Amino acid sequence: MSWSAQQYTTFEKERTRPVRDLLNAVDMESPRRAIDLGCGPGNSTEVLAERFPGAAILGFDSSADMIDAARRRLPRLQFDLGDIQTWNAPEDDPGGFDIILANAVLQWVPNHDSLMPRLMRALSDGGSLAVQMPDNLEEPAHQLMRQMASEPRFAGKLSTAAGSRQARVDATWYYKLLRPHATRVDVWRTTYHHVLSGGTDAIVEWFKGSGLRPFLAPLDPVEQQAFLADYRAALIDAYPVMADGSVLLPFPRLFVVAVR
Ligand SMILES: C[S@@+](CC[C@H](N)C(=O)[O-])C[C@H]1O[C@@H](n2cnc3c(N)ncnc32)[C@H](O)[C@@H]1O
Repeated sequence: MSWSAQQYTTFEKERTRPVRDLLNAVDMESPRRAIDLGCGPGNSTEVLAERFPGAAILGFDSSADMIDAARRRLPRLQFDLGDIQTWNAPEDDPGGFDIILANAVLQWVPNHDSLMPRLMRALSDGGSLAVQMPDNLEEPAHQLMRQMASEPRFAGKLSTAAGSRQARVDATWYYKLLRPHATRVDVWRTTYHHVLSGGTDAIVEWFKGSGLRPFLAPLDPVEQQAFLADYRAALIDAYPVMADGSVLLPFPRLFVVAVR
């Protein structure tokens, strides 16, 4: 289930806005070191570097394609390949990060109950963990993916696809988890209504770069085309095309800033 930098960046403007909103809520004068976990093609890292120009910034991602794209985009920053599940702060500087950013990635990483406290321990005193995750599993676009995956013609290959995303937990769950490890926890939820000028096709393209990947990867090319055609047809009722040819894609997202 590899990530494609090219597919992901198709909607970069829309996908990058939440990280600006997230980092605007990080109240810190001059952080020394920051890391962008799940940095993707470097779009979130670029926002981090703009917001905190004095910080030494590291990007980290498990996709070689994403890391290559990030290095091309921001050649002066360091980008490392690896998995967040096994990531730890360097042993010689275990609590050395002033900011740990994880924008639009932890929904793909399991065991938040142990992961989040581990990330908090990698922060300096007063440092911030800044996390944003899509909270859209109950939106029609995701319900329709799961519904189609359960149909007999796809169910054999897609029985585990929906499990790639972490089950949804709410703001209270994160507050209770992080509060013992933090001096302050700020949690909020926002619904962006993205205007997609390409109509229904644009919704399909959007999710091909993210949520659809585990549903398409197990299928052969013919099956992928069949799945996408039926998915597109199902989206038309759920996301009506407006008079100007665009569709509105409501997209709820959960934000957490926890200060150590
Ligand atoms: C939706 S993109 C987010 C990119 C960027 N942070 C942004 O704000 O747009 C998710 C990224 O997380 C990476 N990723 C997913 N699971 C990961 C893991 N377990 N460890 C490290 N990176 C991971 C993917 O390779 C992908 O680049």
